[in-house]
Amino acid sequence: MTQGTKMPADFLWGGAVAAHQVEGAWQEDVKGVSIADVMQAASRTQPVRKFTDTVQAGKIYPNHWGIDFYHTYPEDIKRFQELGMKAFRTSIAWTRIFPNGDEKEPNQAGLDHYRQMFQALLDAGIQPVITLSHFEMPIHLVKEYGGWRNRKLIDFFVRFARVCFENFHDQVHYWMTFNEIDNQSDWGLPHHLLQDSGLQLQPGENAEEAMFQAVHNELVASAKTVLAARKVDPQLQIGGMLAMVPIYPLTAKPADQMEAMRAMQYRYFFGDVHALGQYPKWLRKYWAQKGYDIPVSAADADILRRGTVDFMGMSYYMSFATAERADGKLEFDEHHDLVDNPTLPKSDWGWQIDPIGVRWILNWMEDRWHKPIMIVENGFGAYDKLEDGHVHDQYRIDYLRAHIEQMEKAVTEDGVDVIGYMMWAPIDLISASTGEMAKRYGLIYVDQDDAGQGSGKRYLKDSFAWYKQLIASDGSEL
Ligand code: BG6
Repeated sequence: MTQGTKMPADFLWGGAVAAHQVEGAWQEDVKGVSIADVMQAASRTQPVRKFTDTVQAGKIYPNHWGIDFYHTYPEDIKRFQELGMKAFRTSIAWTRIFPNGDEKEPNQAGLDHYRQMFQALLDAGIQPVITLSHFEMPIHLVKEYGGWRNRKLIDFFVRFARVCFENFHDQVHYWMTFNEIDNQSDWGLPHHLLQDSGLQLQPGENAEEAMFQAVHNELVASAKTVLAARKVDPQLQIGGMLAMVPIYPLTAKPADQMEAMRAMQYRYFFGDVHALGQYPKWLRKYWAQKGYDIPVSAADADILRRGTVDFMGMSYYMSFATAERADGKLEFDEHHDLVDNPTLPKSDWGWQIDPIGVRWILNWMEDRWHKPIMIVENGFGAYDKLEDGHVHDQYRIDYLRAHIEQMEKAVTEDGVDVIGYMMWAPIDLISASTGEMAKRYGLIYVDQDDAGQGSGKRYLKDSFAWYKQLIASDGSEL
């Protein structure tokens, strides 16, 4: 046991998942087909999940079964209650509320489902924290409208958000618009563009320009969502959500420093718009230099300025490093410009483990955005072994302990305004990047393999008891 810091009594300790990674029941209660429903299984060595246009026989789509949380949630929530969780972050699957995304009226069965689930959480003393879009947009919007490059999606999304606020504002106080909206700055991976923005590139199309165009529409939609929430219920708190990955310079060489600074600017301009209400100047210059056509009208600029978020949600798993580019250009392309950080160990999936990085990035966010911060993901994907009903996952405890210790320092020693910590994930679930079950994050083990086979039975891992004690001690028993 390590001595931690006692955090405020209202600090939101909890756990996080996303609808498509746990719910299963992909066709139940009039649910439409989402982008997650056409993502096939991949693996640690072949990590890129392939998409199909429609659901095809003979292909493996792990999100179709998830961990069957759609049906098991009453029992699972009892386990979360036993854990002492104060907050549970999940998403509302857009396709359960608007199966195709462009309907005028919502699907009542979907609304009923979430109302019951949120009530079960509240009855267990757990506050739901909700993401509106977590890699699960309706596939119909991809095929019929071309995804987020089409401005019509702004209205569809805001309608979906408004319906959620109207139906759940009495149950859900904290909301986030787009999960890890900044992941698509990695535009060289078509996979991310499709998952985040529903973009299917045409041959010869400039992926980076398409990304900026889609992202602009998402940022306008996010700001309009904030404004819509204020109309429905001014008490609601609406956040952005970014994957925060510090990008360090490999050396003290000024050119490496400069490149790392640009990399940070590039990956986090999304947060500048969410929190500060405008695009940074360097980016306007960059678009002009590249000849990109990103139509930011005066009306859009006004919406962005007025629709800034109330807090910043973030995930934290790892840090990156970069160095001066061979061509000397001050640009950043995540595929080619990242380098290994020789000072850090890696997980089995190659993610660099860096607990100090969470303190570093929390300070950076505080300095730049001046918003309360909610950590809504942090966790360790690892192979677990179930032996005689037990999982001895000391490696997961070590990871979480080291990161929480640094988070607590950021709060108590640096004064960063962190309002919650939701680890990923209280229960094993389908990996977003690989579709595997074998990449386990949970405090609760689910007896199920990559093919969806197994009893589905739940077992408490060693990390469950450890996290329970941590919450019970308000973070002081690490
Ligand atoms: C974040 C996502 O990128 O990381 C989650 O918001 C995801 O959906 C988590 O599951 C961990 O990544 P992975 O690929 O190991 O599941």
